[in-house]
Amino acid sequence: MEAKLKQLEAEALAKITEANDLKLLNEVRVAYLGKKGPITEVLRGMGKLSAEERPKMGALVNVVREKITEEIGKKQQELEEASVRKQLESETIDITLPGRPIKTGNRHPLTKIIEEIEDLFIGMGYKVAEGPEVEKDYYNFEALNLPKGHPARDMQDSFYITEEILLRTHTSPVQARTMEKHEGIGPVKIICPGKVYRRDNDDATHSHQFTQIEGLVVDENITMGDLKGTLEVFAKKMFGEDREIRLRPSFFPFTEPSVEMDISCKICGGDGCRVCKQTGWIEILGAGMVHPNVLEMAGFDSKKYTGFAFGMGPERIAMLKYGVDDIRHFYTNDVRFLQQFAGQE
Ligand code: FA5
Repeated sequence: MEAKLKQLEAEALAKITEANDLKLLNEVRVAYLGKKGPITEVLRGMGKLSAEERPKMGALVNVVREKITEEIGKKQQELEEASVRKQLESETIDITLPGRPIKTGNRHPLTKIIEEIEDLFIGMGYKVAEGPEVEKDYYNFEALNLPKGHPARDMQDSFYITEEILLRTHTSPVQARTMEKHEGIGPVKIICPGKVYRRDNDDATHSHQFTQIEGLVVDENITMGDLKGTLEVFAKKMFGEDREIRLRPSFFPFTEPSVEMDISCKICGGDGCRVCKQTGWIEILGAGMVHPNVLEMAGFDSKKYTGFAFGMGPERIAMLKYGVDDIRHFYTNDVRFLQQFAGQE
């Protein structure tokens, strides 16, 4: 029996050496140490041995079993290490290879200008309000003191969808909607950025679709001085501390008095040049004190509340700020044009 055990051990060790993957090694384990294996069989046969031989044989079986177990353990560790090594080798990255540059986009210059203007006004306590681009005639015109048939409707040639619905021609309907929501209780302090549409012929300074930012403040004791101060802060922050502003009388049906704001020309410093058409000034927005009719239509008591409003075209502001000579560049999506604004945060 002793000789048989020694032979078993030699056989098992040879098979362990031969096993070159974990699956085969496990088969060897099952074959030699499993319940149906030869070692278990020897143990079962121990009962037939004499009392003297039994402990001797028992010890020997244990030695053989431990030896096989130990060798399987060693081999298993070896195979596992080899497999990890193989995996690491196959996943090696050559860090000396030159990298592939990733092309990054940049924000559209108009988006940048709009966000810059929003940030500026948010810093002065304004909230951003939005409204629909497909608008009711009521909010686009009537609530702004422009009843049907009013000649000033011609100032903004419109795209009508039905008799009562149109593509909004300015962002002013958002002020009418916001005031209505306030149900006659101030203060209101908002800016409304968004797209607007007019049946204008496209040229260097006009587009049939463009953007506007409207501003509105309604509270007790709001004066023209507040409007002027606000626009001055805006112009200096946007275009530089050395820029002057001036307000010229104008007409909008929804404001009284109405003004247009010019800023001093950056190119000639106010002396007159081609860009400012020899005037030294460039027009950038329309504004005024909210007409009492507009306040009343939106539910505000015009004896208690006053307000100012202004509306500007970010395209024209971007053109001035970045020296762009044609508004159509903003819409043709020529990457060479758009890339010039990368990094100009
Ligand atoms: C208005 O639209 C008024 N709602 C602005 C306003 C608001 C006045 C609140 C008073 C109180 P206007 O039609 O002037 O006004 O347009 C405002 C700005 O939009 C212009 O100064 C100009 O910068 C821009 N704009 C007008 N038409 C076009 C166009 N076709 N293409 C590009 N920009 C335009």
